Amino acid sequence: MILPQRPRRLRSTAALRDMMRETSLRPENLMLPLFAEEGNNVRKAVDGMPGVERQSIDVLVDTARRAQDAGLCGVLLFASVDAASKDNSGAAACDPNGLLPRAIHAIRAACSEFTVASDVALDPYSVYGHDGIVEGQVIVNDATVEVLARMSVMHAQAGANIVAPSDMMDGRVGEIRGALDAAGRTDVGIMSYTAKYASCLYGPFRGILDSAPAFGDKRSYQMDPANAREALREAALDAAEGADILMVKPAGWYLDIIARLSATAERPVAAYQVSGEYAMMWAAAQRGSFDFDRALLESTLSIRRAGASLILTYGAMHVAEMLS
Ligand code: PBG
Repeated sequence: MILPQRPRRLRSTAALRDMMRETSLRPENLMLPLFAEEGNNVRKAVDGMPGVERQSIDVLVDTARRAQDAGLCGVLLFASVDAASKDNSGAAACDPNGLLPRAIHAIRAACSEFTVASDVALDPYSVYGHDGIVEGQVIVNDATVEVLARMSVMHAQAGANIVAPSDMMDGRVGEIRGALDAAGRTDVGIMSYTAKYASCLYGPFRGILDSAPAFGDKRSYQMDPANAREALREAALDAAEGADILMVKPAGWYLDIIARLSATAERPVAAYQVSGEYAMMWAAAQRGSFDFDRALLESTLSIRRAGASLILTYGAMHVAEMLS
């Protein structure tokens, strides 16, 4: 048989495959989401998500140190708020002595060169589990944005280098940028959840923070999974309003969105491999369907191949270990 083209030639040895590899995945492409909880020496494992825990600040500091030593690019902090502190105004979210500012401050003090990103949204603090102030059945946009801007300045003052608004309210990036600049924090960046889809894959996360919506769903602010062009509009708006990094979320089912944004938007693109993606891989591996480690590596490599500069994943530490 005469075959002029034999692509297999370049796959025949490990050395050739290494030479031909188009995409590299390194620990510095990875950021680890962490959950802060009140208390001391607290570690509460999360069922179905290996390696994920809610941790008190002393333990978090230790975890952040290990993440830095593993070569990760940073951590993204979420607050696990007790039911008694939740309301419909975001009061606890704006308390400068609240859980998140204290956690940010402690990690910043222990890891001065590390990237500390903080979640900016009201759902962990909301009695309704929504990402905004609720009036009747409506999630109010502009009043919410004001709170998010205050929250962002507080996180910046506590030591965050990046604030990450995960709410999908309109105009919040511009408002946050303005508030940070007015407070003299021109140095603090904004990683915007630009194309955040209304996804079933957030289920485990809402279990961790006890933040499932008390009524309705999030489809009046998070994006319709059917839409791609709309993501380009969101990206253009966030970029114009001053976002430094544009995030797509979830990641694995939205690789086309990652690819489109990274080809068109003049900003680095991040992608969040969310709780449901991680739990799904673990559950399938538990059934013996495939190997968890390989699934984790293949999925994160694929997100990178699609064009993400930065990947947020609960498996960040494990992936970094496997890469080194
Ligand atoms: C909400 C928020 C969500 C996640 C991060 N921030 C979920 C939601 O919209 O309810 C999900 C992250 C994950 O599933 O890992 N501000």
